[in-house]
Amino acid sequence: MYFERFRKDSAEVPGFVMPESIAVWDFFLAEQQVERVAGALLEIGVYYGKSAIMLAMQARPEEELVLVDPTHFVDQAAITIGKFKSENVRIIKKKSSSHACWALTKDQKHSFRWITLTAIPGPKPLKTTSVWQVSYWLKKGLFASTTSLIRVTRS
Ligand SMILES: C[S@@+](CC[C@H](N)C(=O)[O-])C[C@H]1O[C@@H](n2cnc3c(N)ncnc32)[C@H](O)[C@@H]1O
Repeated sequence: MYFERFRKDSAEVPGFVMPESIAVWDFFLAEQQVERVAGALLEIGVYYGKSAIMLAMQARPEEELVLVDPTHFVDQAAITIGKFKSENVRIIKKKSSSHACWALTKDQKHSFRWITLTAIPGPKPLKTTSVWQVSYWLKKGLFASTTSLIRVTRS
């Protein structure tokens, strides 16, 4: 597992991250590897990419890491994440409610094994559209938000 390395390598990256949450993510992401659950990983609300570092560390080279955030912070996040994952990283510099994100529900329907929603809750459209979108994106795996961890299974 990567938690100790995460702590060291992410120390200088600004962010809003609870170490306890990242430790839990680390555990479940590693469990997915053990259970041979493969798929893309998605984070909505990236900021400078601090929590995304854990996803980059855990993603296999062939698994896509998709990072969604409309702000200029993701430009720096792209550089940071590039140090941990050199291929199959996709940055969508748009809101989760954008057309580009909705396209994922068609193009990558049920292809994600991990989705993190760390965009600050509050605006109604973000809460409703994102949680709704998640059910289309996730195939079999885990959805982590700042307040909950939900396991989805599909037959
Ligand atoms: C609390 S920060 C995320 C923390 C980040 N995961 C970290 O590791 O530090 C919230 C981020 O959500 C982004 N955000 C807010 N509304 C969004 C939306 N509708 N779609 C995608 N990102 C959004 C903000 O731009 C901000 O960078």
